[in-house]
Amino acid sequence: MSNSSAPLPRPPAMSVIYRGPERRNRRTDDQAWIEVITQMDRIYADLVRYQVELEQKNADLEDAQRFIQSVISSISDVLIVCDINGQVQKVNPALVEAVSRPEKSILDHPLKTLFAPEYHALIDGFPAHIRSDTVIDCEVSLLDNAGQPFPLAVNCSPRYDHDNRLSGFVITGRPLGELQKAYRELQQAHETLKTTQQQLLQSEKMASLGRLVAGVAHELNNPISFLYGNMHALADYEQRLKRYLDAIHTGIDEPARESLRRELRIDFLLSDMGPLVEGSLDGAERVSSIVQNLRRFSMPQQQQPERFDLVPVIERAITWVLKASSQAPRIERELPDSLSLTNNEGHIHQILINLLQNAVDALSDTVHPVIRVSAGQGKGQIWFEVEDNGLGIAPEHTSRIFDPFFTTKPVGSGTGLGLYISYGLASEQCGGSLSFSPSELGGARFFLTLPQEVEA
Ligand SMILES: Nc1ncnc2c1ncn2[C@@H]1O[C@H](COP(=O)(O)OP(=O)(O)O)[C@@H](O)[C@H]1O
Ligand SMILES: [Mg+2]
Repeated sequence: MSNSSAPLPRPPAMSVIYRGPERRNRRTDDQAWIEVITQMDRIYADLVRYQVELEQKNADLEDAQRFIQSVISSISDVLIVCDINGQVQKVNPALVEAVSRPEKSILDHPLKTLFAPEYHALIDGFPAHIRSDTVIDCEVSLLDNAGQPFPLAVNCSPRYDHDNRLSGFVITGRPLGELQKAYRELQQAHETLKTTQQQLLQSEKMASLGRLVAGVAHELNNPISFLYGNMHALADYEQRLKRYLDAIHTGIDEPARESLRRELRIDFLLSDMGPLVEGSLDGAERVSSIVQNLRRFSMPQQQQPERFDLVPVIERAITWVLKASSQAPRIERELPDSLSLTNNEGHIHQILINLLQNAVDALSDTVHPVIRVSAGQGKGQIWFEVEDNGLGIAPEHTSRIFDPFFTTKPVGSGTGLGLYISYGLASEQCGGSLSFSPSELGGARFFLTLPQEVEA
């Protein structure tokens, strides 16, 4: 529309000419002409007024359009106007920029062509949703010219014409890019954290494996060196017996044979062979029982609760922890001869090892380190207690002691998983409880209770 249309041409002025003698008739004609001219003037004036009004309306309309256009252009959210069949009728510059396609290739095309294929079915459903007056709020991805997704959180609302009839719908979409980037970063951080946790768990496992191996190696060392020594002696005895028998077979006389018998110490050899074999068998049995204990410890999950005596388990845990440690705290035992219970031996062994290891760790700066280990039973329960005279647990740490990864030890020496794992094993796997309090010895006291009979 234009407001520069030319003004209406004014009709030429009428001049009245008198041409005859009949004055009366002439007067009537003049009157008629004057009326016509007046009428024409009025019409002309009306036309001019209409034109001015129209031009004013045009100008107002163009102002309104420019205003709407500027508002639409300044919206950073994506705006798409569709007819009721889902054909695109209008889009804003934010949409054009997001899909990096010319506006011409967007208008009068189906709405779904703007979106990634996986959302086509969803978008196809928009007209039906709009007709049934359902609110549409969802996340979809536009597809730009290079085929890259442009994620949006969209909202779709109905559009009505001047007769208040449903004529289409309007989609507004907020770019999810920033939000998604932040979310991706968060997820990445979460993944890294999970990996780190896994690594820490792994290193805790490796640390306890290290302690275990050191303890076991020491345990195995005794019987194996014993066996080794015995085998050496037996090999030497075999040589001597062979020499002696060879000499007899060559038919040497009795004095020579007696002298060889003394020289080769055959009598001692014969008397020593029995204990040597017996000792070797003992050693082999010891090795076999250590290996069995080790298997029980390393495969606790596959274990069924079984009846066992806690006292030797405590002793074994003390031995393993002390052998693997460079310190030698004095161990005070307040233990009965035996404490029979039905529970998971492997788990309990692991808890004892963790508690004793922490006590040993807490004593690193103590001049006369002492660990007191006590156990007993009552009211269908077995209890076990380990106390030390170390620094104890600082009040600000008491609420976090069983948290995973809580450690006050230097990086590399503590993973903060020992108590977390022990607590879980005690309460969930063994049906018992684990708690702590200050010890009268000056350090910390950890208290484990276990049911005498745990159900499988
Ligand atoms: N006997 C103890 N004396 C003092 N503090 C202890 C004792 N046992 C555990 N703690 C505290 O609890 C924390 C967590 O122990 P734990 O879960 O076994 O992890 P880690 O031994 O790897 O630090 C320790 O770092 C220490 O601060
Ligand atoms: Mg620990």
